[in-house]
Amino acid sequence: KNIVILVSGSGSNLQRIIDAIEQGEIPNAKIDLVVADRECFGLQRAENHGIKNILIKRGKTFSENLAKEIPENTDLIVLAGFLSILNKEFVENFKGKIINIHPSLLPKFGGKGMWGHHVHEAVLEAKEKESGATVHFVTPGIDEGEIILQKSFEISEGETVETLAQKIHQVEYEIFPKAINKVLAD
Ligand code: GRF
Repeated sequence: KNIVILVSGSGSNLQRIIDAIEQGEIPNAKIDLVVADRECFGLQRAENHGIKNILIKRGKTFSENLAKEIPENTDLIVLAGFLSILNKEFVENFKGKIINIHPSLLPKFGGKGMWGHHVHEAVLEAKEKESGATVHFVTPGIDEGEIILQKSFEISEGETVETLAQKIHQVEYEIFPKAINKVLAD
């Protein structure tokens, strides 16, 4: 199975997927390409593992530039900490083949501007009892697609944005490989 991964940041989720493939946790899969929409450490992680990686500058023509780079035989496009919004045409062209991870219990705390620490700040602000992470199919709307896998945990007394972010990352690393296996098996 051929996978393309899109990144914008540190790429810790990308690293987790690279490791999971290398350790056989995600069988019969290969990352053919990593694409970033800005300079980021995610590109370095791909380079370190000999995975083809390119930078396509974010902006109005990003989606059409990206479409040209997606190999013909791609089975799955994985958004791993990716911050640009793919346009309707691209999403429909690859319908059912694009998944995203989001650091909250969608449909809560999703949508425009809800990324990274902003999500955790909003969750704490709202005095939520729990948080977690969600892997979902990408549709033209933001963070709205069918949920593939979600895992929650209770927020502790005195939880901070930093401690919450840490716990969320652990949940992400647990559910992302499982979600990928689920989608590739279907
Ligand atoms: C993760 O929390 C992910 O859920 C969100 O952005 C963060 C990316 O982290 N979309 P990384 O780049 O994978 O380290």
